[in-house]
Amino acid sequence: MYNPVEIIIKKRSGQALSEPELKFMVESYLAKSVPDYQMSAFLMAIFFAGMNDDETYLLTKTYINSGTRLNFDYDTVDKHSTGGVGDKVSLVLAPVIAACGGKIPMLSGRGLGHTGGTLDKLESIPGFTTALSEARFRQTIDSCGFSIASQSKDMVPADKQIYALRDVSGTVESFPLITASIMSKKIAEGAKNLVIDLKVGSGAFMKNLKDARELGRNLKKVGETFGQKVKIVYTNMNSPIGHYIGNALEIKECIEYLQGKPFPDLHIINKTLAVQMLTMCKLAECEKTAGKMVEEVLANGKALACFRQFIKLQDGNEKVVDDVSLLPKAEIELPIVSCESGYIQAIDSQAIGYALIDLQAGRKKLTDQLNHATGAKLTVKIGDKIEKNQPLGIVFCANEKQGKEVCQKIVQSLQISAKKPATESLILGIE
Ligand code: URA
Repeated sequence: MYNPVEIIIKKRSGQALSEPELKFMVESYLAKSVPDYQMSAFLMAIFFAGMNDDETYLLTKTYINSGTRLNFDYDTVDKHSTGGVGDKVSLVLAPVIAACGGKIPMLSGRGLGHTGGTLDKLESIPGFTTALSEARFRQTIDSCGFSIASQSKDMVPADKQIYALRDVSGTVESFPLITASIMSKKIAEGAKNLVIDLKVGSGAFMKNLKDARELGRNLKKVGETFGQKVKIVYTNMNSPIGHYIGNALEIKECIEYLQGKPFPDLHIINKTLAVQMLTMCKLAECEKTAGKMVEEVLANGKALACFRQFIKLQDGNEKVVDDVSLLPKAEIELPIVSCESGYIQAIDSQAIGYALIDLQAGRKKLTDQLNHATGAKLTVKIGDKIEKNQPLGIVFCANEKQGKEVCQKIVQSLQISAKKPATESLILGIE
């Protein structure tokens, strides 16, 4: 029998933990004999002291073994993002791959730190459920090519609970914790091929390419140890993706994108990831063919049809696809107005993500309820020229005073200078 305090102190002092010690902490937390405050202290100890490769692998294994590990008798492919601002890519990528014939068992997450979560976005669709049994998860994939579900009591319950605690305890940006969280979901769900969208920049957990590469190496190594094929795509997360940030607002944007409205940055990232996925699982023999397949299913409406069917299969009101006004709508809209002229040199996307949590677009504590309608529209990107008093977007809120403060925070998140900055690439590397 272990004492959790001794394990916390052992990790805090930088010593490596054994498999039984890790199992004890995770299993006792799930059984509620280790309370939130001890688990938070344990996570903070991991945050500061780190973990070696072996511990990271063992922690991932412990998470996986907390539930069932699925296996499909056909080829499967998935993508996971390390987290960003306005990152709605999974929601358009999954229907694109499904429309091209792929099968995607996608276990996703909620908002984490300043970043938004795919599950929270989907739950803004009236009626939509992300809590699926294993049988229903499988049936949905069989019927429409993909399913997006939450960790549950069957599927990686350890990540479900520890993820929620990390979100509100300042313990997100840790290589071993990110690795165990992502890879446990992606291995337990039964994805044979995996593309990781490793976000780099002001709105990501990894602020520079050097740290991102280190995390990429960790993720790939763990995936391959479990027999998974893993590719890492490093993408730029300095400007929020697309025009909208916020749960229902991002669903609206995804529908518009699948209907054919251009969102250049979203499209480049989506297509790059889709091409890697289609070639990895041999649905396309080369990248050129894969690219053509992606353009085709977007143009002929097949990807949109898959998205509609998926919403219906997971109890959502699929009519949102024809009428986005059925999504939750904020009572108040406030303009974001520039207070100086010049070029946008940088955007503090993390500050924007945190500002929107003040409007209940994300959580500050475990029990917080979200307001799915709140968020922001921001139409400018790094490199754009703006004028003083130019409208830059809109804040969607339920409280005018809070909304005005968020408008101000968003304006302050923009660094303006007289000189046009060098153009930034969206795709920073593929390994
Ligand atoms: N996505 C996850 O699922 N977990 C993390 O820790 C970060 C991003």
